[in-house]
Amino acid sequence: MTYTPKTFNLPVLEGLSEKQIKVHLALYEGYVKHTNLIGEKLAAARAGTFELDPYIVAELRRRFAFEFDGMRLHEYYFEQLEGSQASLTTGSALAKLAEEKYGAGGLEAHIRDVAGTRGIGWVVVYVDPTIKTVHTVFVADHEVGQLAGLPIILVLDLWEHAYMVDYVPAEKKNYIDAFFANLNWGVVEKRFEAVK
Ligand SMILES: [Fe+2]
Repeated sequence: MTYTPKTFNLPVLEGLSEKQIKVHLALYEGYVKHTNLIGEKLAAARAGTFELDPYIVAELRRRFAFEFDGMRLHEYYFEQLEGSQASLTTGSALAKLAEEKYGAGGLEAHIRDVAGTRGIGWVVVYVDPTIKTVHTVFVADHEVGQLAGLPIILVLDLWEHAYMVDYVPAEKKNYIDAFFANLNWGVVEKRFEAVK
């Protein structure tokens, strides 16, 4: 029961260098590795072949969410950079739903606003099918502030490792511009359609 790093078919990106992406993908693979490592330690602890102080076991269990969400969020992130579709399809179900909450074309503007939150983390956009809306939240680290059970349709990585090969911290806005220049909104729409 181990996870294998995914591979991504990324085009040449605008404003994000090959080196930046290479460094970031290597970091993603670290999350896969550590998800597996923690899983192995916890399995050994359950089997009684690896005796640990209960405090250490508790910490391993807590850290599992950090590593797992770090792995999974990066998969959402890189998948969105495959292919290209510069905007939501006009009149699509997602475009209409987002417009109801954020105004015409307001989803991207709102994501940019949430991305201004100080600190490391992610902007995550979820769909809530129960009341037919989208929620855009700031997730700190990888696991703090996730909305339980809601499908994810878009993520924006705001850890400094996501852009510091190409930009200094004060240029985070330029990185966000580059992110949106490369974001394949078609992937976002497909995720949304899969929820329905
Ligand atoms: Fe990242």
